[in-house]
Amino acid sequence: MGGERGIDRVLAGRVRRVDLLGIDEVPPGTMKMAWVDGTDQVLVVNLDDTPQAYQGICTHEYFELDKGFLTAGSLTCALHLSRFDLATGDPLDPPAELPLAMYPTFVEDGRVVIEIPEGPLPVNE
Ligand code: FES
Repeated sequence: MGGERGIDRVLAGRVRRVDLLGIDEVPPGTMKMAWVDGTDQVLVVNLDDTPQAYQGICTHEYFELDKGFLTAGSLTCALHLSRFDLATGDPLDPPAELPLAMYPTFVEDGRVVIEIPEGPLPVNE
């Protein structure tokens, strides 16, 4: 997926594609942490066979979001229980105030792939 426009942008050197994990590793209704560049954590959530990748660390404090809970359309951080809207990344409850960064996410040949800018992974913190 991504189409010609995505390829053009890759060729322009402004974005890069990162292979995160196999789609079979995140069955519908589950989530799994993956790594970018061996340093940055990205959370893959598969609600309904349409995986979406988010920053893996909460926007409130440093806490891994794969320790949280998936509920209908939201992800709850286990540390202070802020919920995030999975459609937008927006926080639904305090104490978190910033949205989760979301990355364009594709499935290619059974792999979950994201498209991110060149350079450091964009996160909100
Ligand atoms: S660390 Fe996630 S809500 Fe505080």
